[in-house]
Amino acid sequence: MERGLVAEIDLQAVSHNFGVIRQMTGGRPVIAVVKADAYGHGAVEVSKRLVGDGAEYLAVAFMNEAIQLREAGISAPILVLFDPDVKEAFEYNLTPVVGTLKAAYDLSREAVRRGRHITVHIKVDSGMGRLGLRCVPDNCCDISECEKVIIEISRLQGINIEGMMSHFCDADLKYLSFARSQISVFDTLRKNLSAAGLHIPVCHLANSAAVMSLPEAHYDAVRPGIMLYGCSPLDGVDRGLVPAMSVKARILALRKLPPGTSISYGRTFVTARESLVAVMSAGYADGFNRLFSNNAAVLVKGRKAPVVGRVCMDITMVDVTEIADVSEMDEVIIMGGRGEERIGAEDLARWSNTIPYEVMLSIGSKAKRIYI
Ligand SMILES: Cc1ncc(COP(=O)(O)O)c(C=O)c1O
Repeated sequence: MERGLVAEIDLQAVSHNFGVIRQMTGGRPVIAVVKADAYGHGAVEVSKRLVGDGAEYLAVAFMNEAIQLREAGISAPILVLFDPDVKEAFEYNLTPVVGTLKAAYDLSREAVRRGRHITVHIKVDSGMGRLGLRCVPDNCCDISECEKVIIEISRLQGINIEGMMSHFCDADLKYLSFARSQISVFDTLRKNLSAAGLHIPVCHLANSAAVMSLPEAHYDAVRPGIMLYGCSPLDGVDRGLVPAMSVKARILALRKLPPGTSISYGRTFVTARESLVAVMSAGYADGFNRLFSNNAAVLVKGRKAPVVGRVCMDITMVDVTEIADVSEMDEVIIMGGRGEERIGAEDLARWSNTIPYEVMLSIGSKAKRIYI
């Protein structure tokens, strides 16, 4: 038996979610965010599927992720969000995101040296406080300053500005007022650049939450990640998204234990009745967070079974006393559905005080992935 979890990735669900995004955005071009190994779903397989479905661009965080896609034969445009490496951008025909004047000069010099052009997208910091040309109207900068820098970049030899982007800082956009001020900054900048004779054809701002809740941020293309994987960034609103990842373990052993038996490290759980306890093949080494100790459920035979005691490194105990006909080697669903019951990344995130992004990543990248 192999260790740990199996993650089943449903590529049909990815295609379906891509279709939902197209529909919500009136057919806008999609820059599919496949960074961090497609949020734990496998970047090569997911990217091939999305490009086959018609996704116009892919977006990754770092050059090595983009190179992995190129080496897998993917020739679609790839936006590299956070990595200024000049040489690799040229060698692998990638589209770097430029957030400083220096990065633009470095690319221009290399373009001249190679006798080539490079296509870039400009990153504007409209309030995220992370990367990009600062364009937050405050004491230290203003829109016209940012505008001047972008115009300077557009005049550099060998640089072709195809896109301009910014990023929302309220990922779930629960409070829209700051997001709207980000849109307003982005809008003004775009219009001013246009008036100054610089038309940037692909302006993009919308992450998944904005795809769902801010049509005014859809611009020329949208840049969703988590929606593609079937998880809604907005609490309680799924708009027909289908989760693409199901995660499964097995029951290694079943034990009938008398009342008063303590279970696992630290004796944090003691049986109150005669109990049937299943030992399942997943622990924190597999991304099954230790915060799930006494604080999560799994599905056995389509019914919820609570985690009892502390999650161990490789195994975890669940109480199956209430569930009929359980046998050793039965399947345990950690994330996914069976019949009426479902455990979503959102549930696991709530139980471990994090966000679904981290759950998908930590479980998805450690599990053995199979594609269906
Ligand atoms: C720059 C950028 N754009 C888009 C996304 C996609 O965001 P989401 O997964 O919330 O749609 C991310 C995700 O972290 C990001 O960093």
